[in-house]
Amino acid sequence: MAPLDLAKNWGGAPSTTPKVALRDLHVAFTLADGGSLPAVGGVSLSVAPNEFVVLVGPSGCGKSTILRAIAGLVEPARGEVLVDGTSVAGPPEGVGFMFQKDTLLPWLTVGENISVGLELGGTPIADRPARLAALLSLLRLDEFGNHHPAQLSGGMRQRVSLGRMLAYRPALMLMDEPFGALDALTKLAMGRELLRVWEAERRAILFVTHDIEEAVALADRVIVFSPRPARIVAEHRIDIPRPRDIRRLRTDPAFGALTQAIWTDLEGH
Ligand SMILES: Nc1ncnc2c1ncn2[C@@H]1O[C@H](COP(=O)(O)OP(=O)(O)OP(=O)(O)O)[C@@H](O)[C@H]1O
Ligand SMILES: [Mg+2]
Repeated sequence: MAPLDLAKNWGGAPSTTPKVALRDLHVAFTLADGGSLPAVGGVSLSVAPNEFVVLVGPSGCGKSTILRAIAGLVEPARGEVLVDGTSVAGPPEGVGFMFQKDTLLPWLTVGENISVGLELGGTPIADRPARLAALLSLLRLDEFGNHHPAQLSGGMRQRVSLGRMLAYRPALMLMDEPFGALDALTKLAMGRELLRVWEAERRAILFVTHDIEEAVALADRVIVFSPRPARIVAEHRIDIPRPRDIRRLRTDPAFGALTQAIWTDLEGH
């Protein structure tokens, strides 16, 4: 069987157009008393079609709000969100969202949950069984295709969520602390799986985490945000060569220097 051919249907814009462009994005929420709560305070950012960008910042600063604005789920108060050069109005096509809490359908089996992604992504019916088998194998869930989410561990459920997103073949992945609730070992394994797929089939990822080491291990670029309303306070290009061995990286001096620098940025604001 051919390896996962995730690139095939991605299409997308020419590589000169950023996959995502935020131009002076401001988002504010209206409160019950009629007041306004600024959540994003002027963010400009451009993400290339094959770039892995990680967002870090204090809790409540506006990171999830930024992802939600890109997904067309909240409207800018000012500024603009462009996906493939087009202003976002409602959820754009080809965008996969992975939340910290899994959003699997409990009445469907693992295989059926992943097949939802295959269907949404337009995989022809005849190709679905082979693609499903490849995804189950990639995520080391081969024996669990007929299990229901309630019969799985939290880490396994997150793997199914990742599988469903990969099945959908999004050209843009928005991942909001997808591995936040996992134990260290599972988190490491998930990071490896994600890097394995991404290094083979580059696409745009915006990934939020509170784990600075995870951020440096995964990213091409780490963006550091201020406390609410989110503004960019620093940006670090991560030039550590790929493929990366997430575990061995920890002993790499360049890795240590980058994580320290990001901690300093976070503490300074
Ligand atoms: N739907 C909403 N209505 C009102 N306020 C909201 C809404 N969503 C988020 N907020 C507020 O906007 C601010 C930013 O929230 P957001 O969820 O973007 O933070 P975050 O950076 O993702 O935090 P965390 O790291 O804890 O997930 C918070 O003060 C939050 O209370
Ligand atoms: Mg959040």
